[in-house]
Amino acid sequence: MPTRIVAFSGNTHRPSRTRTLVEAVAAEVARLRPVELKLFDLVDAGTGIAVASRSALPLPAARIVEAIEGADALIVGSPVYKGSYAGLFKHLIDFVGPDTLVGKPVVLTATGGGPRHALVVEHALRPLFGFFSAQTAPTSVYAGDAEIADGKIADAVVQARVAQAAAELVRLIDAAAPGEALLRAAAR
Ligand SMILES: Cc1cc2nc3c(=O)[nH]c(=O)nc-3n(C[C@H](O)[C@H](O)[C@H](O)COP(=O)(O)O)c2cc1C
Repeated sequence: MPTRIVAFSGNTHRPSRTRTLVEAVAAEVARLRPVELKLFDLVDAGTGIAVASRSALPLPAARIVEAIEGADALIVGSPVYKGSYAGLFKHLIDFVGPDTLVGKPVVLTATGGGPRHALVVEHALRPLFGFFSAQTAPTSVYAGDAEIADGKIADAVVQARVAQAAAELVRLIDAAAPGEALLRAAAR
């Protein structure tokens, strides 16, 4: 059975460098194992997501949240805004049920305007998914402005990290397979 992967990128416009990075990780995972991939970004969520409760979310945004919760594994990415993840990316993740990502394998990615904020993946994204008790791949991927050009990864180190993160996600998926569904059920 293919692994159900959801890739979610916190970009608010297209084309998007973050979406390119998330897609690159997804393509690499798909090269390694059979996957059923759903890729979303914040543009897919539509307007009107500035609501306080999940029940008030517009349908396209609610579907993204449900897809994130139901996936076997996640690939997430955010543009860096003011030294952290984008506010609207966090806003959508805020609606994800707190027990729905327990033990779920996740690759973390981010893009920024330069190299200075490369550790956003470590000091912002990793704690966020730590809150959910997700299993984050040890290798996260950050790309600055010079490293993604014309919708392609233009840097060998970033490409190598994409491959490494994808391989780690596949290992986590294989290791998580039988036990995690039980863990998630127990956490509910
Ligand atoms: C409001 C705003 C704040 C930003 N803040 C930062 C920042 O703190 N550090 C950084 O490296 N880049 C920053 N950037 C640049 C974006 O992170 C960068 O262009 C990113 O790759 C855009 O991703 P996207 O193409 O997926 O939208 C900022 C951009 C915007 C629009």
